[in-house]
Amino acid sequence: MPSIHVLNGPNLNLLGTREPGIYGTLTLADIEARLRKGAKTLGLEVIFRQSNHEGDLIGWIQAAGAAGEPVILNAGAYTHTSIAIADAIKGSGARVVEVHLSNVHAREAFRHQSHISAVAQGVILGFGAASYDLALQALAPPPAI
Ligand code: DQA
Repeated sequence: MPSIHVLNGPNLNLLGTREPGIYGTLTLADIEARLRKGAKTLGLEVIFRQSNHEGDLIGWIQAAGAAGEPVILNAGAYTHTSIAIADAIKGSGARVVEVHLSNVHAREAFRHQSHISAVAQGVILGFGAASYDLALQALAPPPAI
């Protein structure tokens, strides 16, 4: 069964109680559960991870790139600061869809810049938990005819 890595960056472990007016009330475990449901119908295995540490995310991206397995990445605030994560995507050749729960372009100016967008295959943002579901659809292999 093909695998998809879903990697979540800093503070996303706080979803559910973190600024619910912006991020909603679903927890990261809720997002994982609905994503696993969708993945099952698409015949995909989900490897779902979260870390507050940049190096963890870099290691996971490198491993996914080496394995030729696609990545759904919500790098949280590292999106706006981390050249190292962008280099990991570029250097490992990982196929990445960048996701955000919120529409970062409708928020503070410092959130308008992403170091990841230029090295991602595509970007999906602003749809809450559905951003992840849409990314899964985007990465799913086409059904066999
Ligand atoms: C976020 C947006 C980032 O600006 C923020 O730092 C996050 C979450 C989102 O999913 O909307 O941690 O990536």
